[in-house]
Amino acid sequence: MKLAKTLQSLFVTSEAHPLIKTGGLADVAGSLPQALATLKAVRQQAAVNQHILLPGYRSVLAQFDDLKHIADIEHTGHHGVVRLLETKFPDSDITLWLVDAPNCFDRDGGPYADATGQDWPDNAARFAVFSRAAVAIALNQLDLDWQPDIVHCHDWQTGLIPALLSLHEQRPATLFTIHNLAYQGVYSAETFFNLGLPQELWHMHGLEYHGNMAFIKGGLAYADWLTTVSPTYAHEIQGSEFGFGLDGLLRHRTEQLNGIINGVDYDDWDPATDPALVENYDVEHFEKKLSNKTALQKQAGLPVDEDIPVLAFIGRLVWQKGIDVLLESLPQLLRLNIQCIILGSGEHSHEQTLRKLQKRFPDKLAVTIGYNEEYAHQLEAGADMFCMLSRYEPCGLNQLYSLRYGTVPIVRRTGGLADTVIDASQGARSTGFCFNQTTQADFIDAMQRALARYNKPKQWQALAERGMRRDFGWQQSARHYLELYIKVCQQRP
Ligand code: ADP
Ligand code: GLC
Repeated sequence: MKLAKTLQSLFVTSEAHPLIKTGGLADVAGSLPQALATLKAVRQQAAVNQHILLPGYRSVLAQFDDLKHIADIEHTGHHGVVRLLETKFPDSDITLWLVDAPNCFDRDGGPYADATGQDWPDNAARFAVFSRAAVAIALNQLDLDWQPDIVHCHDWQTGLIPALLSLHEQRPATLFTIHNLAYQGVYSAETFFNLGLPQELWHMHGLEYHGNMAFIKGGLAYADWLTTVSPTYAHEIQGSEFGFGLDGLLRHRTEQLNGIINGVDYDDWDPATDPALVENYDVEHFEKKLSNKTALQKQAGLPVDEDIPVLAFIGRLVWQKGIDVLLESLPQLLRLNIQCIILGSGEHSHEQTLRKLQKRFPDKLAVTIGYNEEYAHQLEAGADMFCMLSRYEPCGLNQLYSLRYGTVPIVRRTGGLADTVIDASQGARSTGFCFNQTTQADFIDAMQRALARYNKPKQWQALAERGMRRDFGWQQSARHYLELYIKVCQQRP
């Protein structure tokens, strides 16, 4: 194609901070488009004009009072009226389009599950409708007088888009980003036919997956290019341990697959300006972190003592995050001179175990079950250390937030954690502690190394300050995406 000076991109996502969030995808979707939009055309490269497409969840629609109905979308299946609404993404100039399909999205609860954590039984239909709306926009079928050069899709919820677009000659380029390969959107063959999906897509190199259908295969098999969110994870998912049954397909696509590390939105995550903190601080004023620690200990109901190291964990309480191993390790860990604060929600059994452990160790362990954005910021600021025992971690954002907040990360060496944290054994480059396996032995060993270092305050501070100086802002990663957008568009015949 002839490259326009400004590339038009449709960024399709099922969540975006600050509108709707269950995890890191929302952080990325809420900040990458803006980072891309602010990249100026340099060295003859195009700039990019983003439009974001998001489902019109009830809670999202309620956040706007200026929604403009700009089109009706037909042929999305038997789901009543589907309208396209337009507004601006908060605090930006970026066009936000919302797919208003009341049968699918006008309900209480989360984007994928009800208030009790049960997946919505009609998720396949909901995200098929959403994907068909994206396809209609991408093919300029809605008289919007706008067509993207590239459609950038994220995770299984958008997997049908590259597949459906592949059936059209005059289509934009497609890029599919894998944020988590384990979530695949697998449904029965019957669902495939009930959704009225084109028969041409039903084969083992298409959407069919061991007799079922997998939404994610639509992205993996049909997108022009694939990315994931760290170079190490891009490598790992091509092997059987991390490939979750899709490693063969990913090896087949290895020439069109690369890893681009996520950036951090330092407008949201910077201790120098963070409004959630009792006192702001930066690398030149590390000592001011202490008042945040004191406030945190008070808030968590733990003894206020600046000499006791505070370890934090924030995240989804699921197998991926190694929460079971953290729980197993706590009785041994809490015998040491340490306090531990956990914020998370997820599997009921882990929530129960946490509550029990808190009763057993009231002076050492503080647990908050639930989702609390402000507390997450206060924890990042007030804790001394942050642990991530992930069995796999495509990128991980909390270790990046921890680095900026001078909260030393202790992480399993996998995926994006391996790419962003440098172990203390590496001397002057080091920023944290890494361990090899999600086991109690490896974790406790890393914790003991961390505690020994903590007892040497000058060395500890130097380690924390090195982390604070690392720059994981979006600038570089956004530039990589832009270069990739250009390359993928140029390769379209
Ligand atoms: P994942 O997307 O796999 O859950 P990430 O590390 O990429 O993991 O991103 C998780 C994001 O969700 C971070 O912004 C983190 O602070 C946030 N988060 C997770 N659980 C909670 C919670 N219980 N309360 C507040 N924020 C949370
Ligand atoms: C996924 C991954 C996480 C990553 C996030 C954003 O949820 O589990 O590692 O940081 O997506 O890309």
